[in-house]
Amino acid sequence: MVLLQLENVTKRFGGLVAVNRVSLEIEEGAFVGIVGPNGSGKTTLFNVINGVFFPEEGKVIFRGREITRFPSFKRAPLGIGRTFQIPRPFASATVRENIAVGAMFGSQGHQLNVDRSLEVADEIIKRVDLTAHRDKPAGALTPVEKKLMEIARALAMKPRLLLMDEAMAGMHPNDIDQMVAFIKRVASEENIAIVAMVEHIMRAVIGLAEKVIVLHQGSKIVDAPTREALQDPRVVEVYLGRRPEDEEC
Ligand SMILES: Nc1ncnc2c1ncn2[C@@H]1O[C@H](COP(=O)(O)OP(=O)(O)OP(=O)(O)O)[C@@H](O)[C@H]1O
Ligand SMILES: [Mg+2]
Repeated sequence: MVLLQLENVTKRFGGLVAVNRVSLEIEEGAFVGIVGPNGSGKTTLFNVINGVFFPEEGKVIFRGREITRFPSFKRAPLGIGRTFQIPRPFASATVRENIAVGAMFGSQGHQLNVDRSLEVADEIIKRVDLTAHRDKPAGALTPVEKKLMEIARALAMKPRLLLMDEAMAGMHPNDIDQMVAFIKRVASEENIAIVAMVEHIMRAVIGLAEKVIVLHQGSKIVDAPTREALQDPRVVEVYLGRRPEDEEC
């Protein structure tokens, strides 16, 4: 079943078209990678899906319901969670408290009190192996640990759709492999669709995604199963700035 649908979505900043007539569908429980060079509109697309920005044109439909102009705080309870490209923890709150906030404002928000939210946080902390850091202030974590906490916080929201904006950038390849395996497991156990933005780490795209969507200058240029997408000459050109036939030169 289709979980998320975008219909001809356009988002402009002044004269700049950051997202240009993008249509796409994300199936329930799917893993989709969004790739594209710097400035191609990936973060803006996420922001349109999660309600940070409203598009000038087009529709955002989640579980059959049009949410184009719902603010973010009304989308999280519907089951749309995200991580940020630049983690923004509450620095003086503990790791546990930061993750509990995710649980409190997520899709179970109206059902969870503080104690239950802290319990959910503890379960997730164990699963992502942050136990040693549980009671530290979030501001004391390393950048990689902050990314991990960001993922934990998003998972605590119990989303149906999780948008991951470069959630694994800067991680060691071994940690990425572990993280990918972990996310895949949790997502399939909990039927979470993941849309992950992973352009700087093709390795993670391959490990994570069944389908890859490629953006270029705000437009969707490829939407295909991963293997096919990565062999697409347009992808090679966008990434490497040359055509595949030039490679031997
Ligand atoms: N808040 C904003 N105000 C004005 N222009 C913006 C804003 N956010 C993004 N842009 C512009 O929109 C275009 C798309 O940016 P976006 O951040 O979505 O790209 P991206 O694919 O996420 O890039 P990166 O790989 O660098 O994270 C860029 O030209 C960017 O400068
Ligand atoms: Mg970005």
